[in-house]
Amino acid sequence: MSFDLVAWSNTARSDLDGWMRAQLKPSWPKRILEPMQYPLFGGGKRIRPLLCFAACEALGGDRSAAMPAAAAIEYIHTYSLVHDDLPAMDDDDERRGRPTVHKAFDEASAILAGDALLTEAFSLLAEADLPAELRITLVSDLSDAAGYRGMVGGQAGDIGMGGPIDDVQSLMRVHQLKTGALIRCAVVMGGRIGGADEELVSRLAEYGMSVGLAFQLADDVLDKDEDAGEDGPPSYVKLLGVEETQRRAVALAERADQLVSSLPHPAALRALARFAVERTV
Ligand code: IPE
Ligand code: IPE
Ligand code: MG
Repeated sequence: MSFDLVAWSNTARSDLDGWMRAQLKPSWPKRILEPMQYPLFGGGKRIRPLLCFAACEALGGDRSAAMPAAAAIEYIHTYSLVHDDLPAMDDDDERRGRPTVHKAFDEASAILAGDALLTEAFSLLAEADLPAELRITLVSDLSDAAGYRGMVGGQAGDIGMGGPIDDVQSLMRVHQLKTGALIRCAVVMGGRIGGADEELVSRLAEYGMSVGLAFQLADDVLDKDEDAGEDGPPSYVKLLGVEETQRRAVALAERADQLVSSLPHPAALRALARFAVERTV
């Protein structure tokens, strides 16, 4: 039976958006609420929440149980983009075809909205309707993936704090932290909420790492025309060429597929692994 990823994703995104809108209380000061809402509902693909739902559903779990974790990961991802675009970081004026948060509002708002999204993410997990022990494990998963052992560490590496990035190995190390850690965490949290034991959590973690890296390789192929030549940042396409980058992305997606194909309901996880390398956006 074929699986309709577009229909499944649209429903899941709409469930997520409804839930997230209800979390951001209109009673909060507009000064902070608006620069939080602007990037959160600004056209993100919601890859990480979709992976979280898909992992939970693969084990027969209910999407609504995974909602706080899916939203928490999207809050962290959103904050990471808001801060990544700041003048002190990548200094970007546009994201998703519109002004970045510090351009649409101001720098202080972008910093504070990012801080608030980061903090709220953990509050969503702490207050989720899940067993206390599971909530603690999820908080620990997310803090590992978001902090210096994960995304923040990768961002530091990306701006050269961990030494030069001049070969595939060092580029991969940065990406595993910068994008891989959150993607892996999304899958692991979804799996845990679906009832995965430790053996299955490890398998889902490997699926997440493979999809995360495949996503990044595909990203470099999509961005290849924007590569700023020799002086610009390193990319897989620059180091390996388009064909080899694509070949590796496809191999990683196939590996990811193998890891989950024997789960009870793997269709969404399998389709998302394919999407990571076949996407055009
Ligand atoms: C963009 O991530 C930045 C990276 C981590 C490569 P996404 O491609 O998931 O961004 P949105 O949320 O869909 O815009
Ligand atoms: C985005 O990274 C930020 C994080 C992954 C935390 P990049 O700088 O590589 O991606 P874009 O080009 O801003 O989306
Ligand atoms: Mg950037």
